[in-house]
Amino acid sequence: MKRAKKLFSLALAGILAASVLVGCSSKETTTNTEENNTVAPTKLTLYAGLMEEHAIEAAKEFEKETGIKVEFVRMSSGEILGRIRAEKENPKASVWFGGPADAFIAAQTEGLLEKYESPNASVIPAKFKDADNYWTGIYLGYLGFVSNDKFLKEKGVAAPTSWDDLLKPEFKGHVVMANPGSSGTAYTALATVVQMRGEEDGLAYMRELHGQISQYTKSGTAPGRMAGLGEAGVGITFLHDAIKYREEGFSDIVLSVPEEGTGYEIGAVAIIAGAPEMEAAKMFIDWTLTKKAQELGQSIGSYQFLTNPEATPPHQADEIKDTKLMEYDFSWAGENRGSLTEKWNDAIK
Ligand code: F6P
Repeated sequence: MKRAKKLFSLALAGILAASVLVGCSSKETTTNTEENNTVAPTKLTLYAGLMEEHAIEAAKEFEKETGIKVEFVRMSSGEILGRIRAEKENPKASVWFGGPADAFIAAQTEGLLEKYESPNASVIPAKFKDADNYWTGIYLGYLGFVSNDKFLKEKGVAAPTSWDDLLKPEFKGHVVMANPGSSGTAYTALATVVQMRGEEDGLAYMRELHGQISQYTKSGTAPGRMAGLGEAGVGITFLHDAIKYREEGFSDIVLSVPEEGTGYEIGAVAIIAGAPEMEAAKMFIDWTLTKKAQELGQSIGSYQFLTNPEATPPHQADEIKDTKLMEYDFSWAGENRGSLTEKWNDAIK
């Protein structure tokens, strides 16, 4: 009987040891105490609206610090919004990382974002985050023009310093901008013009500008590259992207800004409603708001200004820091994203 009892105890110990081993062989680590029964997250999927190189670097660093493996797809703002909308019933990604806040606000109005008040958001100024904690700003980008110096010299024209300058005959057929439906950069341009001039005059301007355009690109960074290559005379872009291309060797790049004032982006981060990796998503949001994470972009040519006041902005952006900014209304721009884009489509038909 004693021997049978001992055998039973040994068998039980064996079963327990085997189940611990099985637990360890799975990717997730289980903490099993009376008050804490959580599974440490092991992976995270992002939709990235900022530059691909930036997302790669962020994924690497976050994985190094947390052990969480990050996968991402880079898309322009309008594409991410469309994807999240289409996946509403069965979300595939947990975090929307980067891109102008306007599209986040549009998503918020459709119930596509999850509220999250990160403890690290307390240092971010109120004007750079959503009052209800649906999204938080991580960077700022200023809208402007990027021209090709050879083109300007050949045409004997100065780089544009107002929105109206883009309508000069010398620029006809040589202006490139992205499509406001797909690109957050281009939507910022459309919302800037309409906010400055009113809807009727703003759309009339966009119609005139259409006559000058050689191509609408999908992404907002493309016009800078095209101006650098001499494939476009002038492009509408976020200025930090033009600085990156110039630094990469496109030395014909000339930056200029509309002197009457220009629009800007708050690049945001948010959790997607119904995120399949909620814990990892929260950890990622917390991380993006730190000084260290915000300073990471400048190491790979992402030269936006930063929202964490403790983070040092890239010195490469010094030349644009005094750009005259308009009072850009983010709520209006976000709430009207769908209808304004449709009106733009009608205007340029
Ligand atoms: O630097 C990349 C960047 O310009 C970001 O600052 C911005 O949020 C994003 O790309 C906009 O991309 P898109 O216009 O393609 O949506």
